[in-house]
Amino acid sequence: MNQQFLEDVATGLGASPKFLSSKYFYDKKGDELFMKIMALPEYYLTRAEMEIFTAQTDRIIDLLGVLKETPFDLIELGAGDGSKTKKLLAALLAQGYDFDYIPVDISANVLEHLEDVLSRDLPDLTIRPQANDYFQTLETLNQVDRSKVVLYLGSNLGNLSDELAHKFIYELGANLNPGDKFLLGVDRIKPVEIVLPAYNDSQGVTAAFNLNLLHRINRELGANFNINQFSHVAEYDEGTGIAKSFIKSLTTQTVYVSALDESFEFSEGETIQTEISRKYSQAVIKSILEGTDFKILGVLKDEKDYFADYILGRQ
Ligand SMILES: C[S@@+](CC[C@H](N)C(=O)[O-])C[C@H]1O[C@@H](n2cnc3c(N)ncnc32)[C@H](O)[C@@H]1O
Repeated sequence: MNQQFLEDVATGLGASPKFLSSKYFYDKKGDELFMKIMALPEYYLTRAEMEIFTAQTDRIIDLLGVLKETPFDLIELGAGDGSKTKKLLAALLAQGYDFDYIPVDISANVLEHLEDVLSRDLPDLTIRPQANDYFQTLETLNQVDRSKVVLYLGSNLGNLSDELAHKFIYELGANLNPGDKFLLGVDRIKPVEIVLPAYNDSQGVTAAFNLNLLHRINRELGANFNINQFSHVAEYDEGTGIAKSFIKSLTTQTVYVSALDESFEFSEGETIQTEISRKYSQAVIKSILEGTDFKILGVLKDEKDYFADYILGRQ
């Protein structure tokens, strides 16, 4: 039993309004559904960032300023299937850089998949996966005295409030050394017609991904959610650049969670917020970085200007 999951479900379903953390989307089923999401025509994020990693690999390496004679750790927070990172890893290996790749992910399942793929496709790569919550990884970074490049891609940052994003980046900086680098990939603010379908696609994959959280609570915590009595809701406010996903109760109902021996009441139309997916302008990024140890060294964008990868230097 995942004790933290149990405690967070008790807190989130007991709150008003109800909420659950998006980090719990990623069990085996959730990982599979997220891989399907990345291939959806509506989910522009992965394609836009893949374009940057494919067309501008050498520029990324240049801006990272890594040296062939200095071994370094390439640490990826929330690595997922690592499909974009693979382009960078292949180029670094081909150019003779000396580094270890350390993907960190809360899902042990996705890390197993990643290790299988990379050991087959990039046999010369040294890979050291870490199944962990990346918030807990931050303070372990300074235990290793090696140059570091930290990747945080796919607009993972957008799952955090701006306040938490600032705190996260501040703590990351505090645990790195001068000269270390941070590559931060963020989705840019854009019109609702483009953003909203990415979180509510026509085939219903994002809906299944969101509702899988209830299946997971049923499976792992012995709850009795009747999934047919809930629906997926996505919204996006172009003014703030914030997308949110919710699970909505279609009726008045009571759900029992046996691992907690506790029941939770839902009124008709009541929601559980399950995710925020913030989009960024340069001004928002600058305000989040203010007071942290990082300086912007370069910004890479795709042709449509949908996505931005910031190369940041630890001062
Ligand atoms: C939106 S996916 C992005 C994956 C990949 N970075 C990409 O750009 O395609 C988020 C990934 O981060 C992981 N994740 C989410 N919250 C996490 C946390 N708190 N600690 C570690 N991993 C987390 C998930 O398991 C998932 O693999």
